[in-house]
Amino acid sequence: MGLGALVIADLVLAFSRASASTLYVASYGGTVSTLSLSGNALVSKSVNTHCGSASNHAPTWLKLDKTNKVLYCLGEDRLINSFKTSVDGALSFIDQKATIKGPVSSIFFNDNVAIALAHYDGSSISTWSKSPSGTIAPIQNITFTPATSGLNPDRQAAPHEHEAILDPISHFLLFPDLGADLVRVFSFNLSTSLLSAHDPLKAALGSSLRHAVFWSPETPYTQGIPLFFFLIAELSNAITSYSVTYPKSGGLAFTEVQKVTTFGGKPVPSTAAAAGIVVSPDNKFILNSNRMDYSFITASPDPTNSTEIASNSIAVWKPNAIGILEFPNAIGILEFVQLALAGGTGPRYFSFNAAGDIVSVGLQLSENVAIIKRDVKTGKLGDIVANLAGGGAITNVIWDQ
Ligand SMILES: *[C@@H]1O[C@H](CO)[C@@H](O)[C@H](O)[C@H]1NC(C)=O
Ligand SMILES: *[C@@H]1O[C@H](CO)[C@@H](O)[C@H](O)[C@H]1NC(C)=O
Ligand SMILES: *[C@@H]1O[C@H](CO)[C@@H](O)[C@H](O)[C@H]1NC(C)=O
Repeated sequence: MGLGALVIADLVLAFSRASASTLYVASYGGTVSTLSLSGNALVSKSVNTHCGSASNHAPTWLKLDKTNKVLYCLGEDRLINSFKTSVDGALSFIDQKATIKGPVSSIFFNDNVAIALAHYDGSSISTWSKSPSGTIAPIQNITFTPATSGLNPDRQAAPHEHEAILDPISHFLLFPDLGADLVRVFSFNLSTSLLSAHDPLKAALGSSLRHAVFWSPETPYTQGIPLFFFLIAELSNAITSYSVTYPKSGGLAFTEVQKVTTFGGKPVPSTAAAAGIVVSPDNKFILNSNRMDYSFITASPDPTNSTEIASNSIAVWKPNAIGILEFPNAIGILEFVQLALAGGTGPRYFSFNAAGDIVSVGLQLSENVAIIKRDVKTGKLGDIVANLAGGGAITNVIWDQ
């Protein structure tokens, strides 16, 4: 054995000595699975089938209330469910309510007493109160009338809310609308959690907005320092960034500062459909996922199958955190770092572990969860260190750490 092999063996040993991490994975196959990651071993500890059935296109989205150890799961065919988490991974049912059709994303707001949902099919947003024990009660439904502005007749015949986002001072909820090319903006009443609409952000027509993140050069954000909003669009495969301010008159003000393709200057394949966007835990990098681009080839997630599979990609970006005297507007400008392997096809959603040295990717089309190692210093993604196949069409994957 050469020295190189020894060093690698030591590294593998060191990696596997780390304590096990827990992940929750939602799948259109009708399951919410609790996975345990220990070194290179990714194993299923528990499978729950109560978030909605496969025939109803569910489950679609997970949100963990760590304080109260309650997992909220959306069933795309009109359900919100809550489950108590446990040390052994089993999820026990707490509550279920019928929602408007097509919930695809959620966010906690108003000091963790309420949850807001974005409804794709139902052209709506809805809000619900949540108790520490995990019970859910309706607060408000808001349905938008069909847009006439959408350019793509297949995807934009109606408003399609695609994500629920909370701003960094927890005063506003934002909902990128894939059908209407708007980001809808709402404030909320602190005693009732009821929403009030403000002027939306109007994006380029035909963009098909999907997800977005806030970012500021200092974290946690305090009012007065520069603030940016990075908005990813599925059909235009673009990330548009905006400088954001809080006008005294209310609402949010957006000024466009940059637009990049989600492939970082590489040609955008005609089939590509950008999906997720996430900030790294150290606030230094921003990653987006690309679907249907077939930029890479990788090993089959099924270890018994030697045929390699096509893989979509994840792009890594570095937002510039330092203002230069001559170029004060350089803050927030995205610098392309890497186009990396996503570990399969259909990377609809992905998330970082707390240390930021691993990214878990939920792959809807190749139906696997890929665990990818990440260099925290350079921000670059590396090898797939673990893989779990056979969970159905994966829609969401989050960590419980
Ligand atoms: C919103 O609509 C859902 C589905 O019809 C319903 O269950 C819920 O009670 C409604 N919420 C309110 C506040 O009326
Ligand atoms: C919030 O709602 C309560 C109850 O309806 C109302 O009394 C209060 O004025 C509202 N607050 C604001 C800031 O609008
Ligand atoms: C192996 O993987 C290839 C590519 O995904 C697939 O077409 C083939 O059916 C798989 N073979 C078996 C035995 O599962």
